[in-house]
Amino acid sequence: MKRVAILISGGGSNMVALVNSMTGDHPARPVLVASNDPAAGGLTKAAAHGIATAAVDHRQFGRDRAAFEAALLSHIEAAEPDILCLAGFMRVLTPAFVERFEGRMLNIHPSLLPKYPGLHTHQRAIEAGDAEAGCTVHEVTAVLDDGPILGQARVPVLPGDTADALAGRVLVQEHRLYPEVLRRYAAGDRTTVYL
Ligand code: GAR
Repeated sequence: MKRVAILISGGGSNMVALVNSMTGDHPARPVLVASNDPAAGGLTKAAAHGIATAAVDHRQFGRDRAAFEAALLSHIEAAEPDILCLAGFMRVLTPAFVERFEGRMLNIHPSLLPKYPGLHTHQRAIEAGDAEAGCTVHEVTAVLDDGPILGQARVPVLPGDTADALAGRVLVQEHRLYPEVLRRYAAGDRTTVYL
């Protein structure tokens, strides 16, 4: 059974989708939900699911990313995860942190990578006149929103779409895609899935 730690920064809807999927014959179980924001709504949801939680407020470390990550890492290592899932985790991780979890860290990003790494993905897709948008689950490497793509799901961009409306449509697909990719990944399957 693989042990999964999940890093969040906000409401944690993807975290909840992952947690809900890890039952029965699923090859993994959640062991920790950690956040850089003590007020992240997802922490309460994780605790309600009976999962251990940790909060390390990045603001207490100023610009010292290494010190923030060392504090975060102490919680993560204590949980002895096999796989680390970034689920709406909004801090950029240093190459040293990424290296430590190389080959066992996943991220979900709200665009069809390699299009639109970074922020404001939905607005950028609308402004570019794209007919389709979507989400990507990929392995994390030291380059932001890069790394081998493990899964993608697409949605149409509709006439008159706002960034919020499109984000909502993409989020529904995120909740399908991430659990599907994690299930395969935990079973050792690294092939790319398209939903
Ligand atoms: C999700 O849309 C996720 O793809 C995005 O943040 C949202 C978190 O929602 N992640 C990023 O933008 C990472 N760069 P959630 O907290 O409800 O899962």
